[in-house]
Amino acid sequence: MNKYFISANWKMNGSKEFTRNFFASMNKDNDEDVKMIVCPADCYLSEVDKLAPKNIIKGAQNISFNSDGAYTGEVSASMLKDLNVEYVIIGHSERREYHSESNEMVAKKFNSAVLHNLKPILCVGESLKQRQNDETFSHIEKQILSVINKDILSKHSFIIAYEPIWAIGTGETATPETANEVHIFIQQTLDKIDSMKSNKIAIIYGGSVNSNNAYNLFKMSHINGALIGGASLDTREFNKIYNIAKEINNE
Ligand code: PGA
Repeated sequence: MNKYFISANWKMNGSKEFTRNFFASMNKDNDEDVKMIVCPADCYLSEVDKLAPKNIIKGAQNISFNSDGAYTGEVSASMLKDLNVEYVIIGHSERREYHSESNEMVAKKFNSAVLHNLKPILCVGESLKQRQNDETFSHIEKQILSVINKDILSKHSFIIAYEPIWAIGTGETATPETANEVHIFIQQTLDKIDSMKSNKIAIIYGGSVNSNNAYNLFKMSHINGALIGGASLDTREFNKIYNIAKEINNE
């Protein structure tokens, strides 16, 4: 398993010019243990493919759960595969909230992704209200168990991103200890499904990660990198966060 995944979620940001500038000064380092994934909007995937150095792994932000057919505006897993995409974010809280994606829909998308050999980055995380009501663990357990089963765990490669909703885009990061506590819980939930296979799954953290807080987060026992929104729009920040993971990995 790679030790760290540093992943950029550009969300609905970017342009051809932005993509050109972003990769002009991008780190070209190819490290076996620290991987960089960039997830642009679908319409810029070809641009990223053209401009990104070889070390950059391409990801998408969403897929349709249908394989093909009359679904206007949708993009299928096989289309993304055709564009050399390797990862796809599934169940981001913004999709769950603004596009009413239920756990069932997230499971269908996850299955469609793995069926076409895309690796899902499954996002889970609690709202502030759920945290205050002590529902964090039960909520996350449900989000995981409605998607992951023994068969999936044994056959497919994927990443889990713990993204507390209250920390996304707010500037309020979970403390390393708070995040790690949830990461340990996620690991235990996977262990219960199949302890022989669960240790190959990377669990990354997302929610206001930047170059100031990355070191302390990545030092934690169960944090294998980050899914980064705002700070991933700045090449220097993104490179810095990558270098922090490398530094820790080489310590
Ligand atoms: P943020 O977003 O880094 O801007 O908080 C993270 C995400 O939504 O994946």
